[in-house]
Amino acid sequence: MNQIARLASLARPFAVVATRLLPETRLISVRVRLLRFAGATIKQYAGIVGYQAMMSPEDVFIGEGAYVNTGCLFMGGAHIDIQHYAMIGPRTNFVTAIHSGEDFNEIAFYPITVESYAWIGAGVTICPGVTIGHHAAVAAGSVVMRDVAPHTRVAGNPARALPSSMRRDAQSAMA
Ligand SMILES: CC(C)(COP(=O)(O)OP(=O)(O)OC[C@H]1O[C@@H](n2cnc3c(N)ncnc32)[C@H](O)[C@@H]1OP(=O)(O)O)[C@@H](O)C(=O)NCCC(=O)NCCS
Repeated sequence: MNQIARLASLARPFAVVATRLLPETRLISVRVRLLRFAGATIKQYAGIVGYQAMMSPEDVFIGEGAYVNTGCLFMGGAHIDIQHYAMIGPRTNFVTAIHSGEDFNEIAFYPITVESYAWIGAGVTICPGVTIGHHAAVAAGSVVMRDVAPHTRVAGNPARALPSSMRRDAQSAMA
């Protein structure tokens, strides 16, 4: 490894921390570049505001035109896939790890997917292995433990399906 590559690999873990210094809603392209340098894959037109806690940025994929609001937690160890034009509300937790019941030190990681055009409200926790289907909506504060089918809406802890009108209301609430 040459000197520059060595310096880059030393600097990489600090790139996520450096985004804390940026204004919440400005310099988005600088934030995106720093997170890419840290190892995350971020496609064009993706919008990311505020600080994102990425424990393992190389596991994070953010698709074209997706939007991630402030204060989310991206745990690592397994892939976290935010597909194109998905919208992620503030303080969403992508929790990929499960501790074994037998031995607390044993940890397994499972991937999380948010499919295209899905909408995640504020303060949602998405549990290991969950896929949120395309065009689905998750209400604020939900804890999602199971897959959410495309075009459905869920709310609560544990998140359960809600009547179909909510999707429309969720979209107009976002407008
Ligand atoms: C999704 C949302 C817009 C739905 O609003 P709505 O369509 O007006 O929903 P309603 O108030 O008609 O409620 C419909 C049902 O869903 C339930 N519900 C709605 N939101 C809920 C939530 N966040 N958690 C638990 N239950 C919820 C209601 O209790 C109601 O159940 P009931 O019929 O048994 O009484 C709203 O609840 C929400 O979560 N907004 C999040 C906004 C947000 O996070 N914005 C971030 C932008 S970046």
